[in-house]
Amino acid sequence: MRKVIITGALSVILAGNVLAQTPVYLDETKPVEARIEDALNRMTLEEKVAITHAQSKFCSPGVARLGIPEFWMTDGPHGIRPEVLWDEWDQAGWTNDSCVAFPALTCLAATWDPEVSMLYGKSIGEEARYRNKTVLLAPGVNIYRTPLNGRNFEYMGEDPYLAGRMVVPYVRGVQQNGVAACVKHYALNNQEVNRHTTNVIVDDRALYEIYLPAFKAAVQEGKAWSIMGSYNLYKDQHGCHNQYLLNDILKGEWGFDGVVVSDWGGVHNTEEAIHNGLDLEFGSWTNGLSNGASNAYDNYYLAQPYLKLIKEGKVGTKELDDKVRRILRLAYRTTMDRNRPYGALCSEAHIAAARHIAEEGIVLLQNKNNTLPIDLGKVKKIAVIGENAVKMMTVGGGSSSLKVKYELSPLDGIKKRVGKRAEVVYARGYVGDPSGEYNGVKSGQNLEDKRSPEELIAEAVQVAKECDYVIFIGGLNKSAHQDCEDSDRKDIALSYGQDAVISALAKANKNLVVVNISGNAVAMPWVKEVPSIVQAWYLGTESGNAIASILMGDVNPSGKLPFTFPVALNDVGAHKLGEYPGVPRNDGSKIVDEKYNEGIFVGYRWAEKNKITPLFPFGHGLSYTTFAYGTPVASSKTITADGNIQVSLTVKNTGAVAGKEIVQLYIGDEKASVPRPVKELKGFQKVELLPGEEKEVVFTITDNDLKFFDAAAHAWKAEPGKFKAYIAASATDVRSTVTFEYK
Ligand code: BGC
Repeated sequence: MRKVIITGALSVILAGNVLAQTPVYLDETKPVEARIEDALNRMTLEEKVAITHAQSKFCSPGVARLGIPEFWMTDGPHGIRPEVLWDEWDQAGWTNDSCVAFPALTCLAATWDPEVSMLYGKSIGEEARYRNKTVLLAPGVNIYRTPLNGRNFEYMGEDPYLAGRMVVPYVRGVQQNGVAACVKHYALNNQEVNRHTTNVIVDDRALYEIYLPAFKAAVQEGKAWSIMGSYNLYKDQHGCHNQYLLNDILKGEWGFDGVVVSDWGGVHNTEEAIHNGLDLEFGSWTNGLSNGASNAYDNYYLAQPYLKLIKEGKVGTKELDDKVRRILRLAYRTTMDRNRPYGALCSEAHIAAARHIAEEGIVLLQNKNNTLPIDLGKVKKIAVIGENAVKMMTVGGGSSSLKVKYELSPLDGIKKRVGKRAEVVYARGYVGDPSGEYNGVKSGQNLEDKRSPEELIAEAVQVAKECDYVIFIGGLNKSAHQDCEDSDRKDIALSYGQDAVISALAKANKNLVVVNISGNAVAMPWVKEVPSIVQAWYLGTESGNAIASILMGDVNPSGKLPFTFPVALNDVGAHKLGEYPGVPRNDGSKIVDEKYNEGIFVGYRWAEKNKITPLFPFGHGLSYTTFAYGTPVASSKTITADGNIQVSLTVKNTGAVAGKEIVQLYIGDEKASVPRPVKELKGFQKVELLPGEEKEVVFTITDNDLKFFDAAAHAWKAEPGKFKAYIAASATDVRSTVTFEYK
């Protein structure tokens, strides 16, 4: 018998009774899983296949016939990307798609404040919602393994615990807007060079202890609704269709019920895409685009090739139904949720949030002779020197590039803050990269300067000599081989001759402040010559205001480093022991194998194991005030399985201004059957204190904080014996320790 399903408006008219006839998939009184099954049962095979792949650069179809909306994706992670043409990367030319640029995720991590991360997620989620996006392709939590990685600025640093604590509120904040977060790039995408061909070889301990925890936290605690597979390979399979990472770990061990979205062009094989955990294919570079096929998207791996395999009976529909259920679940969580808020774009609240995040994340690295803050009552003339004082940083860097409502440069921010109280003069100092364009978005700046380095230094030195203060603003930028997607840096040193400029300025004026704008550690051969150094990240729309308020002391700096600044590349495990950037296979394939020989010893774990003194350690950051740490007290000397102990201490502001201190808890296993780091971050708290004020900080240590991943047993394990809790102001500034026993 032929079955006719009457849906939508027609059914309502026929029945004359709206409520009685509302189909289950549209009935909000029914459980979501029942609605998913109902929608699934109404879909044709063709509709099911269609919903698993893109129909344009950033959009995939819903089910038009049933009123299930299209899915609109957007980058991420620092603001909402401008609209591009349907089938090209060029700008669509809309005039209503400018956004607020929030600070880069390295800055967010440097705040060490989960509440700030919630504010970030909520604000960017509102911008995404206002722009009618279903999925925000963010945040990124790939671990900082080498300072050469061109995309470190989009991630949250070197420590899995810090990244895990900071990613969860971001995801929740975004998703409370009815916009899905898409956590990326899962997993082991730790460099840009050879990003499509690198096959990572890493032991299970490093995988579970270092590279996966932030993703796990985003999925299990943040309840992320989608995740993006990575470009690289692991165990010879690409991250976007990887049996081990996607099926076994993500969907198996972690119980992920959301959608696995491919990275753009990260799918390579239909059978693997069907069976190895991918749900939604985007950005594949099919020949159809250049060969003029009627619809290139039909050539996607999960399009006609998939349909053909099903029709020929070569694969069943079990996997397809699983993918479609997940994609429908995404619809119910986002576009089909009638209670979804409306969002807002470029609101005053978002601009204030961007500034607050920036001010909380800027790190005061060094401040000899209290050179900072600058007391405007005592200076007449300030020199600002360097290209990054004027260069727009929101244009460039790859997919995170933005079209902003505005970006206040550091120079303009300083001028605005100083006002008439002093004179501000600018000199270029060096010429880096005068260009400023990404996918048709132009900075509109003319930064061409044909003068020689000698002429530029001579001018800068002259200006520096005439001023009371010199603020050099340099670092990296968003061009290829700096902080930029699709290429890695070539070296840890600053480019464009900046080291020579800084050294010359240090000789010319003792009141020198170097502001380094970057998402990566840079070498500082002049560190002893320069009194004050500020790490300022890519700060987005409110960059100039935030930098000025830190330099003038309106805001007391309180950020701390989310990654180690090594003195030299050889001080990094990936370079000393690892095989960065990989070893090409001599088998005709393009695959480049890369063994992570340093294993779990990444960042400070490597430095401490090898007794290497960093330039600036993980967790380091100064303040304009001082803090005294009291003696910690433990609630017990022993901890048992499933038990916990509290370690409490007082922290007092002993200086003259209000400030915030990030108190860190690290734990070390005194004796273990496997190699373990000297200590690992297991807790932190940012405390705000008025001058003279004292607060109690309490850390709870559970047996989970004592565990390592036992690869043979494939389980987390704590071994009985002595452990040490380190209360510290940074990885190298330990204020006291408490020893306890695990029984
Ligand atoms: C990047 C992703 C991004 C996607 C879409 C890819 O090249 O790796 O992070 O979300 O493009 O723009």
